[in-house]
Amino acid sequence: MKTKIKKLESQLKETEIKNSEALENFRLKFLSKKGELNNLFDEFKKMEGDAKRKFGKPLNILKQSFLSFFEEKKNELESVEDSDSEGTDKSLPVNGQQIGGRHPINKVREEIVEIFNNLGFILSEGPEIEDDWHNFSALNFPENHPARDMQDTFFVEKDTSLRTHTSSVQVRVMEGQKPPIRTISPGRVYRNEAISARANCFFHQVEGLYIDEGVSFADMKHTLFHFVQSFFGEDTKVRFRPSYFPFTEPSAEMDIWIGLDTEEDKRLSKGSGWLEIMGCGMVDPNVLENNNIDSKKFSGYAFGMGIDRIAMIRYGVKDLREFFYNDVRFLEQFSGV
Ligand code: PHE
Repeated sequence: MKTKIKKLESQLKETEIKNSEALENFRLKFLSKKGELNNLFDEFKKMEGDAKRKFGKPLNILKQSFLSFFEEKKNELESVEDSDSEGTDKSLPVNGQQIGGRHPINKVREEIVEIFNNLGFILSEGPEIEDDWHNFSALNFPENHPARDMQDTFFVEKDTSLRTHTSSVQVRVMEGQKPPIRTISPGRVYRNEAISARANCFFHQVEGLYIDEGVSFADMKHTLFHFVQSFFGEDTKVRFRPSYFPFTEPSAEMDIWIGLDTEEDKRLSKGSGWLEIMGCGMVDPNVLENNNIDSKKFSGYAFGMGIDRIAMIRYGVKDLREFFYNDVRFLEQFSGV
């Protein structure tokens, strides 16, 4: 009897219970009617005299230690199960949760802004409803310029319109700061255009402005070339074409080479292999003077690009309008990009 008690004591010490199945096996083996403890008690009942007196107490202690071990493990397992099962289905696969993604236009905008941030351009934002001064007059638009016409501009009131470009934000920056100024202005702009696969009545721009002493056209070319290489890849070929904007002189447009390999390349580049991605130029001295910046001392460059067009190239999207239907089947394709 003594050795049997000792054996059970050491078995109890070595027992590990990791789950409810193991706990049930433990109960059957030791604590059930036909379990080892009851067997021992049956033996004990048959004993007599001194022997019976000797083993009564240790046997009861042994039974108690088995019972309290069982209770303790049972409580432990129950509390783990409770906290695990609160609101979660443990049978679901890991990473099975659908998470949202950022809009492709936002991704491209952030990427462009970050490239210029790294060059020291500071983010600026402004209102989408603008007055005539900030959207046109301060930027040297002549009184009779066609862009002021109802054709292009959504007027809210006579001298208030939805901004047609984010150059208006740069006027606000020039009002509030002295050169050197280095700023990048992303935002939504509006133009009253016929809606098609390539044009919409609203789109998104990133415009940049740099004003300091001795800023040159070569500085601008270098900066924009750096941008194109960072965004489109080191091997990207660019060209500058002369152009006209009221607020820059000289003005240029920058094209990137997309080639003529596919029908899509031909269509996008209208058969030339070149795709226009931005307007740029040296800030017209009139614009500097309009904003109380000494045009004899300071010079600067400005540039502006359409985010939507760049996002179309990046993701191979053929119709610009796809970006704005907000069809989740379309947007979901970008959630991991
Ligand atoms: N604001 C011009 C546009 O909306 C882009 C531009 C910005 C061109 C700066 C030259 C310099 O088309």
